[in-house]
Amino acid sequence: MLWGRPPGLRGSSRTRSSASAALAAALLLTACGSRGVRAHLAEPFPTKLSAWRLFIGDPAALKPNAGVVPYDLNTPLFSDYATKYRFVWMPPGTSATYSDTEAFDFPVGTIFSKTFAFPDADQGGRQRIIETRLLVNGRSGWVTLPYVWNREQTEATLDVAADPATVHWVHPSGTRYTIDYVIPNTNQCKGCHDRSKTVTPIGPKARNLNKDFNYPEGRFNQLAYWTKIGYLKGAPPPDRAPKLAVWDDPSSGTLDARARAYLETNCGHCHNPRGPANTTGLYLMAAQTDPMRLGLCKVPVSAGQGSGDLLFDVVQGKPEESILVHRMESTTPKVMMPELGRTMVHQEGVTLIRQWIASMQGSCVGRTSRSALVLQDPLADVNVGRRTGVLPHVISPPRTPGTIPSRAPS
Ligand code: HEC
Ligand code: HEC
Repeated sequence: MLWGRPPGLRGSSRTRSSASAALAAALLLTACGSRGVRAHLAEPFPTKLSAWRLFIGDPAALKPNAGVVPYDLNTPLFSDYATKYRFVWMPPGTSATYSDTEAFDFPVGTIFSKTFAFPDADQGGRQRIIETRLLVNGRSGWVTLPYVWNREQTEATLDVAADPATVHWVHPSGTRYTIDYVIPNTNQCKGCHDRSKTVTPIGPKARNLNKDFNYPEGRFNQLAYWTKIGYLKGAPPPDRAPKLAVWDDPSSGTLDARARAYLETNCGHCHNPRGPANTTGLYLMAAQTDPMRLGLCKVPVSAGQGSGDLLFDVVQGKPEESILVHRMESTTPKVMMPELGRTMVHQEGVTLIRQWIASMQGSCVGRTSRSALVLQDPLADVNVGRRTGVLPHVISPPRTPGTIPSRAPS
C-alpha cells in the first residue's frame, strides 16, 4: 500500500528515493488503473464523496488514494475546535507554480479536500466526521463542494445548503459541549474563498505550508516534499522560503509574529484590499505594515452595534477598548468576527490577541473620526496616511519581542 496510513501518523522510515519511486508508481496506477482518483471538472458534480475516490478502504479512516497527499498549516483557521484533515491531489504529470507571497498557482484538475471532525461525546470520544469540503480547480475555475457525512460514517453527500449538525463533543480539557455546528452553504464558501470576486484557495501559500510533516515515508518539510514528488515547481529550499509563525507555539515566533499569523489565517482572507471586507480598510494579512491598516486607532467604517460603543479597532495597551477583541468575543450575528464559520468563541485565540494588544505602547488620545475619512477609497494606496500627513509611517520591526512601536502623535 503506497499511501496506506492515516494522516498525521508517523510511518516507516523509507528513504527519499523510494518515496519518489512510490509516487511514480502511484501516478502510473492513477493513469492506467481504474482505482485512481477521479477528477470531475464540470457540472454535474458527483452527489457522493466516494465517487471522487480520494480515499480507499473504510471511508471514515480517510486513507488517501494514490497521489492524494495530506498536508498541514503552520497556523490554521479556527472552526469551533473541529479536528481537520487536509489533502491535495493533482493530475498526473502536472504541478503547481511556487509564489513567495500568494497561494500557489495550481493546475486545472487540482482537488483540495478538508474534512471536519469532532470527538463524539455520545460514543466515548470516538471520532465523528461531520463534513468534507472540496475545492476543485474545474474547467471554468475553482468550484466549492460541501459534502455532509451520514451518522453511519460510510458516505458523504453533496449538500449545497445543509442544516446545522448538532454535535456533542469533548474538549481536550474534558469539558463537554453541545453545539449546532454550522455547515457553510456554497455562497458562504465564496464569502471567504474570494479574491477580487473569484473563488480561490487560501491555505496553500509558501509561508503557511513551510513546516515539517510526518509522511508514511518519514518526516519532511512540506515544500521540499511537494517539490520532490513533482507537485511544486520553482520553490527555493525551505530555509529560504517565508514562514508563518505557529499561533500557539511560543518557540515559533514572538507574540507579535504569532498574533499576526493568527489574524492572517482567521481574518486576512476577508480583510485585505481584494477580499470581501476590503471596504473596511482594516487589512489583517501578516505582511501588512501600516499600523492604521492593522486597526491601531482606526475608527471603524460603520459604527453601531458591531463596534460595541467603542471608538477604535485597536487601542494600544487596552484590549477591552479594542473593537477587534469585542468582535472576536461575540457570537451575535452582525457583531461576531469572523462573521462566518464559527458558532463558538475561540478563547485561546482571543487570549493571544488580548496579550498582543496589551503589549502595545502608545495611545489614541486626540484621535478623531478624521482617520476614517482617508479610508473612503478602500483600494487607495495603503500608505495614503503618509501623503495626508494624518497618519504615521510604516511600522518598523518591533524593538522588543511582542511590542509594536508606538505611533508618532499627529
Ligand atoms: C470563515 C471563512 C471560510 C468559509 C465560510 C469557508 N472556508 Fe474554506 N478555508 C478557509 C480558510 C481560512 C482556509 C485555509 C486555512 C485552513 O485550512 O485552516 C480554508 C481552506 C479550505 C480548503 C483547503 C484548501 C485551501 O483553500 O486552503 C478547502 C478544500 C476549503 N476551504 C473548502 C471550503 C468550502 C467548500 C467551503 C464552503 C462549504 C468553505 N471552504 C468555507 C476559510 C473558509
Ligand atoms: C468572512 C469575511 C470576514 C472574516 C473572515 C472576518 N471579517 Fe471582519 N469584517 C468583515 C466585513 C464584511 C466587515 C464590514 C462590516 C461590519 O463591520 O460588520 C468586517 C468588519 C470588521 C471590523 C470593523 C472594522 C472597521 O474598521 O470598520 C473589525 C474590527 C473586524 N471585522 C475584525 C475581524 C477580525 C479580528 C477577524 C478575524 C478574527 C475578522 N474580522 C474576520 C468580514 C470578515
